[in-house]
Amino acid sequence: MIRIAVTGTNGQVATALRERAKRRAEIVALGRPELELTDRQKVLATLRKSRCDAIINAAAYTAVDKAESEPEVAMAVNCSGAGYVAMAAAELGVPLVHFSTDYVFNGECQRPYREDDSTTPLGAYGRSKLEGEKVVASVHANTVILRTSWVYGPFGANFLRTMLRLSESRNGISVVADQRGNPTSSLDLADATLAMVERLTYDSALALRGLFNVTGAGEASWAEFAEEIFARAARHGWAEVTVRRITTADYPTLAKRPASSRLDNTKLLNAYGIALPEWRASVAACVDRLLAGRRS
Ligand SMILES: NC(=O)c1ccc[n+]([C@@H]2O[C@H](COP(=O)([O-])OP(=O)(O)OC[C@H]3O[C@@H](n4cnc5c(N)ncnc54)[C@H](OP(=O)(O)O)[C@@H]3O)[C@@H](O)[C@H]2O)c1
Repeated sequence: MIRIAVTGTNGQVATALRERAKRRAEIVALGRPELELTDRQKVLATLRKSRCDAIINAAAYTAVDKAESEPEVAMAVNCSGAGYVAMAAAELGVPLVHFSTDYVFNGECQRPYREDDSTTPLGAYGRSKLEGEKVVASVHANTVILRTSWVYGPFGANFLRTMLRLSESRNGISVVADQRGNPTSSLDLADATLAMVERLTYDSALALRGLFNVTGAGEASWAEFAEEIFARAARHGWAEVTVRRITTADYPTLAKRPASSRLDNTKLLNAYGIALPEWRASVAACVDRLLAGRRS
């Protein structure tokens, strides 16, 4: 069984990786304070000790709005910190999978973004993740960078769990309808990532390295995403919730978000033969899991 060091012990993707790795890989979960991404020595020393066959960097500064007021912190974690993880992977001679984001794009593209489309992040978080991509790729060639988007799941802070929580006290919720993207289940993402890591440990093909989009299949607006969550929750006896469709202008946030950050997953399918399930099926599975045996 391969041994994979995963950074960001309690993050939603790291937790999903731990759950999905059962019987497939041994996960060494590394988090703060032992692995503080901004501390080069700690990152190198902790990863050296892990005796891993591969590294997945799932730790990141992910507070999109807060990053606007502390861009240097976001940059230190998502760029310098990611670089330290890549240095450790290079020193250990093991493959690295690093996560990035759809927020490297400005959202003006009329079709789903491909990996080689030009990047123009709209905010500090996106800029820090883009710089992270560059540094990781320059430090360690045996790297896969996965751009994912709109991640939700049974663990951690995410849109689906927020919608379910709000629906316990409201019968109408306003949700932005003019931003489009790809809802991605953390569990589906974990399955795909683990399959890729396994392959990287024995297959040195260049076509398997580099930048890949990886998201749930199909696209949605945040409002459609919310409607799907509430429709599924209703099947568990939860009260009906009305989604009021609003615009981005009606819901100002500190960070500007792309209007369309849909990602094209063709490269992943061609190189690895991997495609994530359709997003509605995964939302249903997640809601079923969270609400089984509960009544609102
Ligand atoms: N969530 C999304 O919708 C989304 C979309 C696109 C891309 N991504 C990318 O996917 C990856 C995983 O995201 P996620 O949703 O799992 O994030 P998350 O739930 O916010 O977890 C992030 C993890 O990073 C850790 N972390 C933050 N700052 C750190 C530091 N300075 N040193 C060490 N660890 C630190 C946190 O540790 P603590 O528990 O100690 O705070 C947490 O465990 C990230 O690269 C993110 O940019 C996420």
